[in-house]
Amino acid sequence: MSDAQARRVQQQFGGSAAAYVTSPLHAAGEDLDRLLAWGVARRSDRVLDVATGGGHTALAFASIARRVVAYDLTEPMLQAARGHLQARGAANVGFVAGDAGALPFRDGSFDVVTCRTAAHHFADVGAAVREIYRVLRPGGSLLLQDILGHDDSEASAFLLEVEKRRDPSHVRSYRTVEWKAFLRAAGLTVMEDFVIWKAREWDEWTGRMRMSAEARRELETFVRRAPERCRAAFDFTLTRDTVVSFTDRQILLRADRD
Ligand SMILES: C[S@@+](CC[C@H](N)C(=O)[O-])C[C@H]1O[C@@H](n2cnc3c(N)ncnc32)[C@H](O)[C@@H]1O
Repeated sequence: MSDAQARRVQQQFGGSAAAYVTSPLHAAGEDLDRLLAWGVARRSDRVLDVATGGGHTALAFASIARRVVAYDLTEPMLQAARGHLQARGAANVGFVAGDAGALPFRDGSFDVVTCRTAAHHFADVGAAVREIYRVLRPGGSLLLQDILGHDDSEASAFLLEVEKRRDPSHVRSYRTVEWKAFLRAAGLTVMEDFVIWKAREWDEWTGRMRMSAEARRELETFVRRAPERCRAAFDFTLTRDTVVSFTDRQILLRADRD
């Protein structure tokens, strides 16, 4: 990945690590339940959680795995995850720092790789998926969740602008067809995929990334002035003075290595 993108990620997440540990949207949800159900149905002895953030997915998988490696580019995030998981008594989790595009693990060393709410930060998703393929054993599974790209180009460009103003390390989210092409090109076979909706409370969502009051006001003005159909695509709720919430779609995918 480019140094500039790595710096953006580390700047954004380094200062927000504690907020990601306590974030209710990351701690639980239908998406995490579904990933874990896939993990239970597969053999999940050795699990790698790529871009672990506050460690919520690693923690969930620690309850079913023999060993979990929690992996992240941002050292302060990894430290926060370590504190979080130690406090929760998860003794079978190791912590390793690095980039998703260059995994420092031997070929075939994991049964399952998880990656939740993170791939939209990767400078090169194709490279990350190729690395995930390499470290999976034959028959192993990638269990992935991320924000789903919108099929409508205007709606997609609108949400990308909202996301980037809130978090400059956001690169972009991908549509189902794009995900399937990345996975197929890497040699992974999509076994199951579906879409769920996830609601975002505006104050919590903007606050977690430490937006200044001024940047937040400008973003709210941008949202208010956007075409109604773009706001409607994400179910934005506004009052006369503020933005209350919106809802985005998440893709969940299970892809296996032959
Ligand atoms: C929203 S958090 C992840 C949430 C977490 N997976 C969970 O389930 O709660 C996004 C994380 O991606 C990490 N990240 C972003 N780009 C990365 C990359 N190229 N390689 C590894 N980690 C990366 C960030 O440091 C951050 O901790």
